Amino acid sequence: MEVFSLALGITLAILYTVGCSPVTTIGTASGATFVVDLIHHDSIQSPFYDYGMTFSQRLSRALQRSFNNAKRFESNSLTYQTQIIPDQAEFLMNISFGNPSHQVLAIADTGSDLPWIQCKPCIQCYKHTGSIFNPKLSSTYKALGCKSETCKTISLFDNNCSSTKNCQFTLSYGDGSYSVGDVATETIKLGGQPLQDIVFGCSFRNGGVFRETWGGIIGLGGGDFSLVSQISTLVTPEFSYCLIPFPTDDHLSKLSSKLIFGDISSGSQAVSTPLVPKWPRTFYYVTLEGITVGDRRLKYSDSTNPLKRMHKGNMIVDSGTMLTMLPTKLYEKVETAIKENLTDVRTVKDPQKQLSLCYRAKRVKHAPEITMHFEGADVPLLRYNVFVMVSKRIMCLAMAPSSDNAIFGNLAQSNFLVGYDLGKRSLSFRRTDCTGLKV
Ligand SMILES: *[C@@H]1O[C@H](CO)[C@@H](O)[C@H](O)[C@H]1NC(C)=O
Ligand SMILES: *[C@@H]1O[C@H](CO)[C@@H](O)[C@H](O)[C@H]1NC(C)=O
Ligand SMILES: *[C@@H]1O[C@H](CO)[C@@H](O)[C@H](O)[C@H]1NC(C)=O
Repeated sequence: MEVFSLALGITLAILYTVGCSPVTTIGTASGATFVVDLIHHDSIQSPFYDYGMTFSQRLSRALQRSFNNAKRFESNSLTYQTQIIPDQAEFLMNISFGNPSHQVLAIADTGSDLPWIQCKPCIQCYKHTGSIFNPKLSSTYKALGCKSETCKTISLFDNNCSSTKNCQFTLSYGDGSYSVGDVATETIKLGGQPLQDIVFGCSFRNGGVFRETWGGIIGLGGGDFSLVSQISTLVTPEFSYCLIPFPTDDHLSKLSSKLIFGDISSGSQAVSTPLVPKWPRTFYYVTLEGITVGDRRLKYSDSTNPLKRMHKGNMIVDSGTMLTMLPTKLYEKVETAIKENLTDVRTVKDPQKQLSLCYRAKRVKHAPEITMHFEGADVPLLRYNVFVMVSKRIMCLAMAPSSDNAIFGNLAQSNFLVGYDLGKRSLSFRRTDCTGLKV
């Protein structure tokens, strides 16, 4: 079965100013539009918020999640879905199940598909701070039979009709954690919008490191049974998110990022690039042609495999990984180009030793402009999309070399309205102040 985990992380904002920013209003074209708050792992609203941590510790943990998370995308791994401990999550969302509706605060996971929550009767549940969903009390709950078409598609490997009549799912994670239960359909409510017959996993048996604040894991990947794929066939093929920068201060910490379903007519200021169909379908692939740093245009290249030079779908767009990961050779070219642009500024070491190119922020008056060139879409980044403040004074390039898939991380995506059109198979970017977004 599929489902794994994810992570999100946004980041930080050098010289990021809030408070006096104008409200951005998104016009809705037609049909249903509904909005769900995405609560950052490191915001005060999150049950994970640790008051005992300093900002640098919090950021360092977020960066570490980013490195761990990147492993999930290793293309030569057949077990990609089981590598990641579900502890990597960075966004949470409120979602309701059943009639009468039962609210669950769950992990929003871009790295997995089938949504699941803990259900009664628990054969073996992890300790949970909220109340547990009881399908027997819901008039809209329908368990799927193990011979149904949906079940055949979902549980290719673990459907066992000889031991049960219900469709079952089993999810296992790299650290030995697992979740087992029935596949069912239910009416859910997202941002006030009721959605009928959503396929999900009702889990009766869980083991491992699940946290007591998690109600479950809501898969937002590109596979058939992720929540977004189901909504795209039932209601609208378009969804977007607008991620606020990493919560560096109390003000940002009280705000939420937004996940928006529906056509929000991103308009003429948006640029768009094709989504490339590739396996595993859980991830969203685009084609990166190159990166401009200052006045130097650098071509995409992959030293480990010259044949892979600029192949279609060479980069995964992930809201769940904070850093942007580039093939080693391209990463080195970017680093060199930044250093050459900032010849008169001395580099310093990252105190946490996680990132490789750092400067004293005050010394960098004008960082070189960086533009991502996706197929058909040039996306200029701002300073806080490219650099992260790892301490009060030190900023580091928020990119890292990767011997495998390239990843366009969520720091680079912050303060863009990022739109997915699953009908037209395209991805759009529109510069937007996500802290003042009104939909
Ligand atoms: C989730 O919903 C509950 C119940 O309505 C509410 O108390 C809580 O504030 C919500 N959480 C967030 C972080 O939006
Ligand atoms: C299916 O269930 C039967 C009865 O519980 C069990 O003996 C068998 O090992 C199961 N097969 C698989 C593939 O899990
Ligand atoms: C650095 O990049 C900027 C554009 O972002 C450019 O105007 C400037 O000439 C570059 N400086 C050097 C020394 O390359």
